[in-house]
Amino acid sequence: MKVNIFKTAEEIGVAVAEIFTNEVKNNPDCVLGLATGATPIPTYQNIISTYEKGGISFKGVKTYNLDEYCNLPKSDKNSYYTFMHEQLFNSLDILEENVHFLDGNAADCDEECKRYDDEINNAGGIDIQLLGIGNNAHIGFNEPADEFTTGSFKVQLTESTINANKIYFDENPMPTHALTMGIQQIMSAKKVILIATGPKKAEAVKNMIEGPVTAQVPASILQKHDDVLIFLDEAAASLLK
Ligand code: F6R
Repeated sequence: MKVNIFKTAEEIGVAVAEIFTNEVKNNPDCVLGLATGATPIPTYQNIISTYEKGGISFKGVKTYNLDEYCNLPKSDKNSYYTFMHEQLFNSLDILEENVHFLDGNAADCDEECKRYDDEINNAGGIDIQLLGIGNNAHIGFNEPADEFTTGSFKVQLTESTINANKIYFDENPMPTHALTMGIQQIMSAKKVILIATGPKKAEAVKNMIEGPVTAQVPASILQKHDDVLIFLDEAAASLLK
């Protein structure tokens, strides 16, 4: 794990966006794994500003998002489909047929998860996977568990995750389940970039980097990946030795 500590989330956004836009310039047909939530927003804003300056196209890029809520219409303002379009895709020349999500409303979730995993494999796997981290050290929606997960699956969200995300749901209650990529799938990305910002992430960050590798701290598995860049602001890094 290579740990980079920056003063602010803004500076991280600039640095991580540069990694992604360089990848797209050097490998215009790359496959990107993307995350939602508050953490990647500065990165997405900086990708958009680089794109607007010209000289880069996303027409050949394929994206696969980490997760999607169950029982929430795709068009809902809180679906991750809507989030990604509003925060990134609508501002790029990426092709709609190249952006991919798990379908949280699929009639058969097992079949849907298998379809998604097969599609990622058929695309040649993920070149760069972007991750945030939950207060409980989840990555994607892989919550603390007895064993590390493999491929995509349906998960029941923990109280910690529901408490962190329910602020976005002002009208309808937040979904209790989601479909998410599994740990093995995340680990098979060629390169992984994890961003953590703010004091609420400090303990999860410490456990991820300095603690034992355990499924109770899902992000700790990243210690075993040989190309992981961790980007922290000072608050998220504050408990590190
Ligand atoms: C989002 C995802 C989650 C978030 C995590 C942090 O697609 O998979 O693991 O990265 O919950 O969320 P924020 O960034 O909102 O603190």
